[in-house]
Amino acid sequence: MENPKDWTQATGAVAPRPTAEVRGASLHAGWLGPDAQAAIVADIREVVEAAPLFSPLTPWGKPMSVRMTSAGRYGWYSDRRGYRYVDRHPSGTSWPPIPDRVLAIWRAIVDAERMPDCCLVNFYRDGARMGLHQDRDEADFRWPVLSISLGDDARFRIGGTERSAPTETVWLRSGDVLVLGGAARLAYHGVDRVGAGTSTLLPKGGRINLTLRVVD
Ligand code: SIN
Ligand code: FE2
Repeated sequence: MENPKDWTQATGAVAPRPTAEVRGASLHAGWLGPDAQAAIVADIREVVEAAPLFSPLTPWGKPMSVRMTSAGRYGWYSDRRGYRYVDRHPSGTSWPPIPDRVLAIWRAIVDAERMPDCCLVNFYRDGARMGLHQDRDEADFRWPVLSISLGDDARFRIGGTERSAPTETVWLRSGDVLVLGGAARLAYHGVDRVGAGTSTLLPKGGRINLTLRVVD
């Protein structure tokens, strides 16, 4: 879709008021308290047991520094053939279901009728970062991408819909929820770096980012 509408108009949903706006993205800082964060980490451990983390290859053949897996009907995947959604983990098994506690966040902030098809799990350790990119492998950009941060703080960078547009950074902390919707749905974004040891949520450190996406 060339001109994504405001997703609240498209869905008729009334979103809770964000704590801040960054280049059109809505930040809900501290949306999850410590107990909710720990419960979701336990849910994600189960997802990772069923669908182990792997390092996707970029279309240029380089392994990404962020390790990934997915839950839901679709998982995000990349190799020399490009970025896409696939209905199976590379081992051949289907992706495990998206945990209820994660779906509840989508329901509260985005919409109760249309649930996401994919929860991409990104795991950042040891200097992992993510270059500036757009999320554009989904069919309908009226639906936002909802991102949940757990563990160490991340310096998140966001710009405009052109790669050359000016960018701004915001530190995403454990429990923060960020929504890329409306005009920010196709904003270029990435993670410059993760602040090692800034959170005790994950015993061995690191950062988990979950992104919920409506795929088709
Ligand atoms: C992503 O763009 O897929 C991840 C963003 C993040 O880790 O905060
Ligand atoms: Fe992204």
